Amino acid sequence: MSAIPSVTLNDGAWFPELGLGTYNLRGTEGVEAMVSAIETGYRLLDTAVNYENEREVGEAVRRSGVPRDELLVASKIPGRHHGRQEAIDSVKGSLGMLDLDRIDLHLIHWPNPSVGRYVDTWQGLIEARQQGLVRSIGVSNFTESMLTELIEETGVVPAVNQVELHPYFPQERLRAFHAQHGIRTESWSPLARRSELLTEQLLHELATIYEVTPTQVVLRWHTQLGSTPIPKSSDPDRQRENADVFDFTLTEEQIAAISALERGRLWGADPDTHEEM
Ligand SMILES: NC(=O)c1ccc[n+]([C@@H]2O[C@H](COP(=O)([O-])OP(=O)(O)OC[C@H]3O[C@@H](n4cnc5c(N)ncnc54)[C@H](OP(=O)(O)O)[C@@H]3O)[C@@H](O)[C@H]2O)c1
Repeated sequence: MSAIPSVTLNDGAWFPELGLGTYNLRGTEGVEAMVSAIETGYRLLDTAVNYENEREVGEAVRRSGVPRDELLVASKIPGRHHGRQEAIDSVKGSLGMLDLDRIDLHLIHWPNPSVGRYVDTWQGLIEARQQGLVRSIGVSNFTESMLTELIEETGVVPAVNQVELHPYFPQERLRAFHAQHGIRTESWSPLARRSELLTEQLLHELATIYEVTPTQVVLRWHTQLGSTPIPKSSDPDRQRENADVFDFTLTEEQIAAISALERGRLWGADPDTHEEM
């Protein structure tokens, strides 16, 4: 299996082309699953205050034996911590739970537009970075107009926008906006939470051509779109399968055919209306 390659973010930091989602990985089993992923070669662990597993993520980082500088921990500010000072306090709270000196990437989890404090929260993250608490800062579930507002109000372009993205919701317009502004796209629920996506005939046909699995075809599609998928798996074999996607290349036509599976958002989580605290 080839190592997971990296790209450079707009702030000069390195960032893997594929990482591990950790939602629902908790307790001893959760730590073991994360350690097994790191042993397989994963270098990016995606957590959030609201996943209630930052403690486990920190423990997995320490237990793995991989030097700290070779691992990236990403966490997120929940809706109830919006505000400039609240954001800084939230980052400090995450550092305490993780028991680490630094968070590598910190995101605003949801914009929660009715609360109207995401620009203040962004200013708090900018300060947290100046204080050396976090290395890179970004957002999650932000629309083009929300990103534009952050940039115009603060002059600081998010390094990453983590959004729902899978073949049923390829987010073509938002990805083009990201490319234009140097924002790295990150795909949440990249396998569409398994669902029926993995039974699509097209994916099975492509899997046969490349002698891989339909899951690997989907994850290679993400990486070739220029997005970092963060598939979650608790199983060492599936973790290996998901990370082993860099030894084949889909053609432009095949990528377009996968994108044509588009249906729209699967769970109705439209950032203009969906809010999470
Ligand atoms: N920013 C946000 O608002 C947001 C929202 C949702 C998710 N996320 C992040 O994105 C991560 C990934 O999203 P997700 O967990 O919702 O969905 P996902 O990664 O698309 O799918 C996870 C599901 O697929 C299964 N699976 C994984 N690899 C597989 C394989 N090779 N073959 C068959 N099944 C496989 C997993 O089961 P097993 O564990 O049994 O393998 C699990 O049931 C989350 O963990 C979280 O870190 C962020």
